[in-house]
Amino acid sequence: MGDPAATSVELTENNPVRARFPSLNRRMGDRPLIYLDHAATSLRPAEVIDAACDFCRLHDGNPHRGLHTLSAEATAVYEGTRERVARWIDAPPDAAVVFTRNATAAINLVARGIADHIGEGDEIVLTEMEHHANLVPWLMLAKKRRAVIRYLPVTDSGELALDTWPSVLSERTKIVALTHVSNVLGTINPIESIAEDAHRVGALVLVDAAQSVGHMPVSFARLGADFLAFSAHKSYGPTGLGFLVGRLDALERLEPMETGGEMIELVTFETATWAPIPGRFEAGTANISAVAAFPTAIDFIELYSAHAIDLHDKLLTEYALEQLLRIDDIRILGPLDPQLRGGLVAFDDTRVHPHDLATILNELGIAVRAGHHCAQPLHRKMGLSASTRASFGIYSDLTDIDALIDGIHQARKVFTR
Ligand code: ALA
Repeated sequence: MGDPAATSVELTENNPVRARFPSLNRRMGDRPLIYLDHAATSLRPAEVIDAACDFCRLHDGNPHRGLHTLSAEATAVYEGTRERVARWIDAPPDAAVVFTRNATAAINLVARGIADHIGEGDEIVLTEMEHHANLVPWLMLAKKRRAVIRYLPVTDSGELALDTWPSVLSERTKIVALTHVSNVLGTINPIESIAEDAHRVGALVLVDAAQSVGHMPVSFARLGADFLAFSAHKSYGPTGLGFLVGRLDALERLEPMETGGEMIELVTFETATWAPIPGRFEAGTANISAVAAFPTAIDFIELYSAHAIDLHDKLLTEYALEQLLRIDDIRILGPLDPQLRGGLVAFDDTRVHPHDLATILNELGIAVRAGHHCAQPLHRKMGLSASTRASFGIYSDLTDIDALIDGIHQARKVFTR
């Protein structure tokens, strides 16, 4: 693994890791692909793609559903991934890893499963920087149970307004659900202290870790949350697989959201009882090849180390902020200090609409995301309907950011607002 700092510099100046990503061999017309949309989905290294294919070629059984060799092998692979994820994310013995479809499904599993524990007038605390995935499920729950949503505000500099936190939290707070790293502002939130305060009033804590896992060391035990939701596809793994890590006593409070095959203990014509955790939350056949491939993505991350990837993100973010701030009429969304941020930068170019900018950048082979990034209320609060976002992975380097800056100048020659 080596010295994380040394690895980070190497990655930034002459990034040898790119060769492992088949998508980066693509040409966009006569130009190389410059992928700056990691926050939407990471590219996948060849070994992860191969691991998914190998499972289909060699094993291809349905776990927990047969006595034959292929099913037994699939069971070993399935449960092996569960143990690997638990170790990787530092889940203690009194926690479990549930396989879901993605991070969104993991959050829905909690928001819908907890409904019986939420009464009229109970409070659900969110922040103003939540992705719709960690907002809409709670709006639905509040409507159904006549509960109240309270928001921890975001300051003008894109951080949580923690001075208001004591007045947002109350004895009626039942759950606090917040993002670890904002997918728009990049802000890293102080989960540990928030979880401590929330637990003091007896509230549960759910952390949306979609933009932190795979970018930085994330320890479920150290964060102190009750639930952690994240997806495989933003950590160099396959799509169609997410995770809910939960403390057993918190998971026990959830009614299963989906019912059917394999999540039961006993079924009669009249009633059914549930299998132990985590199986009770995994109705139906899972995305088994994705489950089989994900340990290879963890191996890939561990080869470089999450510390090195974090440093790499910070160097790129610092450079991107510096370069963007040199351009007139660019407004950076989120903190200007790269140490406070994950590996993404969203901005508003007041001269070119984000969709126009993304279109021109695409013609130059540069992939960014333009729009509200599934965070409409946050954009509205900032007086915007859309922004442009560049986000980084282990394969990103400084030349990608130079290309982005050059692309912005080229777009400005074509469009003015
Ligand atoms: N949540 C992902 C993003 O921010 C899809 O782009």
